[in-house]
This record gives sequence, C-alpha cells and structure tokens, in this order.
Amino acid sequence: MDHFEYRDGVLHAEDTPLTAIADAVGTPVYVYSRATLARHARVLRDALSILPRVHIAFAIKANPNLAVLRVMQREGLGADVVSGGEMARALAAGMPASDIVFSGVGKQAWEMVKGLEEGIGQFNLESEEEGVELAALAAERGLTANCALRVNPDVDARTHEKISTGKAENKFGVPIDLAAGIYARLAALPGLNMRGVAVHIGSQLSSLEPFEIAFAKVGALIAELRANGQTVTHADLGGGLGVPYKTGEVFPSPEDYAAMVARATQGWDVTLMFEPGRVICGNAGVLLTKVIRVKRPSNRPPFVIVDAAMNDLARPAMYGAWHDFDAVAPSGEKMVAHIVGPICETGDTFAMDREIDAVAAGDLAVFRTAGAYGATMASSYNSRGFVAEVMVDGDRFAVVADRILPEAISAAERVPEWLD
Ligand code: LLP
Repeated sequence: MDHFEYRDGVLHAEDTPLTAIADAVGTPVYVYSRATLARHARVLRDALSILPRVHIAFAIKANPNLAVLRVMQREGLGADVVSGGEMARALAAGMPASDIVFSGVGKQAWEMVKGLEEGIGQFNLESEEEGVELAALAAERGLTANCALRVNPDVDARTHEKISTGKAENKFGVPIDLAAGIYARLAALPGLNMRGVAVHIGSQLSSLEPFEIAFAKVGALIAELRANGQTVTHADLGGGLGVPYKTGEVFPSPEDYAAMVARATQGWDVTLMFEPGRVICGNAGVLLTKVIRVKRPSNRPPFVIVDAAMNDLARPAMYGAWHDFDAVAPSGEKMVAHIVGPICETGDTFAMDREIDAVAAGDLAVFRTAGAYGATMASSYNSRGFVAEVMVDGDRFAVVADRILPEAISAAERVPEWLD
C-alpha cells in the first residue's frame, strides 16, 4: 500500500496535491512519500520479526537520497553499500558503521581501507582474491574485518537477465561448490574474521521458489563449513523481493517471504541478514512529468511527448520495464498512445500502444513505482541536467535534491588552451 491517492480528482502524495509540487519545483521531479517509505520498512521488519536474529540493511543503490536514508535510519535499518560513495552516504545519514554491509565485485583498496577505518559491520567478499587483498590491508593496520563469503548458487531467479545475479555465468560471488575451500583458506588469514555466507540471486523476483532453492544450497554449505570446523554465525540472504509495477499484479508479500525464510533456514542458528531495496522504496515514489505536446500522425496512435525522458527514468529503455502512467487530474476519458520523452533516440520510449488517461499539452502525469532505481540511475544525456527530488510528509514537502541544471554540468568542463 502506498500513499499516492486521488482526492477531489487530483492525485496527492499523502496530503499534498502533486499540482502544488509541480508549481513550486517544476517538472520533471521525483516525489517520495515519507509515510510510505517508513511504512514499508516497518512492514518488512515486522514480517521478519518471526525469525530469531535479524539485521536489515537497506540496499542504498535503490535510492541513495540522503533524506530517504534518514527515514531508513529512523526506522532502525542499516545499509548495504557497494561503493565508497554509498558508504559515505550511509554514514552521513547517521547509520552506525557497525550496521553497514559492503557488497560488490569491484571493491577498490581505498574503499576497503575506508570501510576498515570506519569500522563497518561486514564485508561481503565476492572472490578469494578480494579476501586476500582485504586481509593484507586489515593486518597492516592491526585491524580485523568481519566477513561473509558471497556464493553463487547457480540458480535462475527468473527475472530480467540484466538484473539476475545468481547464475554460474554471472560475475557475482564464488561458485558454491568451491566455497568451502575458499572459506577455509580465507579464515586462516590474519586480518579476517570469516563469520558467514552471503547470497543474492537477483532483483524484482516475482516468485519465492528461486529464493528457496538458493537458500537450501546455502544451508547445505553452512552445514559443510561447520563440519569442517569453520565458524558460521551470520547468513546474508540479500534482497530481491519484487514489487508490482502494473495495476493488478500480485507479488509475494513480506509475510510470505518471511514464512519461506523461516522454513528454509530452520536450525541454521545464525543472525540472518537482509538487503532489501526495491520492496521498501519502489512504490514510495513517482516521477511527476508534464505533457509537452501530443503529436498525432494521421494514421497511427498519437505520441504523448512528456518532459521526462530516459535520462531521468532509465528502466523502460534499459530493461523494457513497465511503469503505470496516470494523469494527475484525469478527465475520465481514455486514449491509446505511445508515451515518449524528448531525447533523440527511439529507445526514449516509456510505453507503446498503451491505454492511458486522455492527456493534452500542459497536463501533469506520473510514472508510478519510480522510487527505486529511478533518480539514482539518471544521467545528463542530451544535456538535460539532473532531475530534482522532493519528499512529502503529510501536507508539507521539501526539495531533497536540487535540480542540477545543464549549465552547472558544463561548468565542470574545460577547453584546453591548445584548442584555442
Ligand atoms: N543486495 C545486492 C548484493 C544487490 O546487488 C542488490 C541489487 C540488492 C541487494 C537489492 O535488490 P532489491 O531488493 O532492490 O531487488 N537497476 C535495476 C535493479 C538492479 C539491482 C541490483 N542489485 C532495476 O532498475 O530494476
């Protein structure tokens, strides 16, 4: 459930009409609902509370805005980070270093050192090479890094191939059949405290079955590690639970997910860690846009040209993703149209032949479920600048990320004197 609803014919975020935000901030603009973010964090936390020991680390990549992170911090969540930049954001949002988990296949030495010096809670190692490097960096400094070994269970998450991470051919983790040997070699190194295993098979999963298959493999690995005399106190089960993007779609609930985890992890006797992203923030945001004009080729469906584009919301262009499109003040009439942005490539298409609210030049509309992997994946392609972000709280709202104008971006560029 989210807090974007029509009142008196106008779409509101909580108690704030989206028209007021467009008037004050302009479009396109991402709008987040604080109450929805907090509610989703709480619903997930409550669902997972049936498990004995739980640590929830919000996957910052889904929405790294500092105000969003502060909402997560106030709900008691830690952070899953994949870069020094994300680590800095988690700390800036007030998340304790000990609640930070550092994932990612390409951790660089400076990022590992930053994590060590800040005292982050856990490094999820993605290769033996990375573990050896971290061990040396830690030992040099007289420090010990808590680590989990990320395994690749070779399970098909049945999601879009670009966001599938647990198949043998994907770059993530170590092959699960080699994990026991790698774990033992890393556990013998000074500077590392090997304490667990981690797995994340993909994002936007619509079925619990692939999770359960992967977790069963992790359970078998934990038993094998213990039989070999290794210590395992933590298991990080990653993120990946999907959300509905189309009206009417039904996804497993957090309660269903938690019940599956309880079943799959029975007897593990570990702290279970989770890295949810989309399920918390996806439906907590919309991208508010304005129709520039409707272009009507004589014998084809019209093109609704909006002021948002693939640089602001990349998911449709990148993954063919669906985002519901709704008028802010619908007339009740419908039309069938293609929805496109102003960017000069055909990939800048949000929808083809879609039945939508009838709209005309100047009308406001939203792309729904844009709170995850929206603003954070923006670019400045076609010199369009970076979109602004707003957070609503009841009947008040604040700009939580300024619009970055094209001039500000070009101001960072230089023409060398030898071109004068
Ligand atoms: N943990 C790890 C190690 C991850 O790689 C990810 C997402 C997550 C947690 C969070 O997954 P979530 O709960 O949000 O599904 N840009 C794509 C999604 C990429 C996901 C990358 N990893 C999209 O727009 O669909």
